[in-house]
Amino acid sequence: TRNVRITLHPSFDVLAATTAARLITRLLDVQGERGEATVVLTGGSVGIATLKAVAQSPARLAVDWAKVNFWFGDERFVPAASPDRNAGQAAAALLDHIGVDRARVHEMAASDVVADLEAAAADYTAQLAAAARREWESDDDSPESAPAVPRFDVLLLGLGPDAHIASLFPEMSGIRSQGVPVVGVANSPKPPPWRVSLTLDAINTALEIWIVVAGADKAAAVGLGLAGANPVQVPASGAHGVNKTMWLLDQEAAAKVPEQL
Ligand code: 6PG
Repeated sequence: TRNVRITLHPSFDVLAATTAARLITRLLDVQGERGEATVVLTGGSVGIATLKAVAQSPARLAVDWAKVNFWFGDERFVPAASPDRNAGQAAAALLDHIGVDRARVHEMAASDVVADLEAAAADYTAQLAAAARREWESDDDSPESAPAVPRFDVLLLGLGPDAHIASLFPEMSGIRSQGVPVVGVANSPKPPPWRVSLTLDAINTALEIWIVVAGADKAAAVGLGLAGANPVQVPASGAHGVNKTMWLLDQEAAAKVPEQL
């Protein structure tokens, strides 16, 4: 009953180009309905290649980039100038080139700006709550109280070979955390060790989740994620968009897609 779609692509480059085209079209459609649109970005090689492909696409000019809200699914807790920052990579790949409104680009705090991981998580929680409250106040059909996060029209995720999504790693506290939108992650098994991440609760408020994956080293994780394993062991299997969950794969990453879904 879950609305899960799988699309195969012949190569990494085609995957990035196609995801870029989908993203442009999705933002255009949402803006046509509501004026603004909101996307949650991912780091990782496919995520950043997708942003570069958006920057190179003539179709990007159809989007009103000044009215796109940008969030990040996770961030490495490193100094602001570090090349490891997803925010810096996204800026270099796309955001610096297309006339975004910087006030709509919501970065997670860097390690030389706030005291510690808890402060970074609290800061992002507050940014999300403020955006959610602004939406809630301007919407006549709002629920009784403001939600914890704004409406995410599309949320992009990469996938690690261990099936981690954002910075939610198997068996660690982040993947188990409930009732909060953001967690600080210490001792990440993949360096750098300190990270900030949206939780599964926050991720799963997204209307559409797109899990974008390339490479043979991810094939087992894709297979387990689609088979519906326990998210504590296979974090990707816990990601479900409200309207749609799309697995956008290259051929190598798709090698172990289960036949029966
Ligand atoms: C990180 C990486 C990681 C990445 C996946 C997929 O935070 O260390 O960004 O989460 O998204 O490992 O990476 P690739 O897209 O490079 O395969």
